[in-house]
Amino acid sequence: EKGGWSSFMAKEVSEEPEAVANTLRGRIRDGAVAITELDGLDDLFRGISRIVIIAAGTAAYAGMVGKYALEEWARVPVDVDLAHEFHYRNPVIGPDTLVISISQSGETMDTLMAVKYARERGAKTLSICNTQGATIPRESDAIVYTHAGPEVAVASTKAFVAQITALNLLALHIATVRGELSADQVAEQVAELEQIPAKIQHILDDEQPHIEQFAHWMADTRSVLFLGRHVGYPIALEGALKLKEISYIHAEGFAAGELKHGPIALIEPGQPVFVVVPSPRESPVLHSKVVSNIREIHARGARVIAVAEEGDAAVLPISDEVLRIPLTGAITQSLLAVVPLHIFAMGLATAKGLDVDQPRNLAKSVTVE
Ligand code: F6R
Repeated sequence: EKGGWSSFMAKEVSEEPEAVANTLRGRIRDGAVAITELDGLDDLFRGISRIVIIAAGTAAYAGMVGKYALEEWARVPVDVDLAHEFHYRNPVIGPDTLVISISQSGETMDTLMAVKYARERGAKTLSICNTQGATIPRESDAIVYTHAGPEVAVASTKAFVAQITALNLLALHIATVRGELSADQVAEQVAELEQIPAKIQHILDDEQPHIEQFAHWMADTRSVLFLGRHVGYPIALEGALKLKEISYIHAEGFAAGELKHGPIALIEPGQPVFVVVPSPRESPVLHSKVVSNIREIHARGARVIAVAEEGDAAVLPISDEVLRIPLTGAITQSLLAVVPLHIFAMGLATAKGLDVDQPRNLAKSVTVE
């Protein structure tokens, strides 16, 4: 059922716009967020004093993006934990804690064990899941399904953008219930979200061939670094994970602000570094900080590949390649910036002649701890 695509991954990346649209569908009414699955839970959302997000791998990176949305909009403190680290260290949780698990499959054993542990300690549990009726949602007090459709390729792509979309909706929902955002502020964010599918489609239509060509040129690369700040940080981690997973190339993601605390020592002439650049309009302060990071690594001979907003001219003189993404809000930028990175990882693995759907040593759902 690859439907003419060379791989399930290629098909699933092409479905990223649809995955976002399907996760939004039916959950927006008159500029407000209306998640029917959460009806009757207002007291729960009002009663919590903190949120802990638990997940593994790519889903945990979606969770990291969710932290920015939840703290910015709902003003609830959020910790993001890897599920397998969470319940082996006696975490401080209780009835005032909402534990949000994120899992495409809904069967990841590490995540399931963490959810059970949280429940036993009296925390409230909410599952963001892509698979109807899976074990993790069945073990949770509330469920928000992502409607990305079945994901077959081992590497998660469309489910990732759907998870971020669900977290954005959830953050706006909790912000509304707790009175942290006005109706106008919610409507503004909802409008940004509604435009995301078309904007991802624009990247696929206009940039994909160029990115694939570029990935072909890079096929002999032995190491790639990824930098990002704010939501660009988890996106950098996701870009690195996808590349290691399917192309078996060493890749690391860093918070751009960490550069001078160590990673800059890795920069030598020719080292490819992807940099997710915040929007100059939405995040001018972060933009200028990341631009100065690019200057630092460019001056040391790094080969800079900037993922930057259309019209961002500051990156041009200091980048070797610029992969363009449309304008959007500071938080929704994550949904656009990841798309070139997914395409790049897939393009590079394809150029190396690898099976992008079935990377070695990996399984689609990890049902052992
Ligand atoms: C990476 C990837 C994995 C999964 C992780 C969690 O591309 O697919 O890192 O994200 O194993 O899986 P789920 O979301 O099914 O719990």
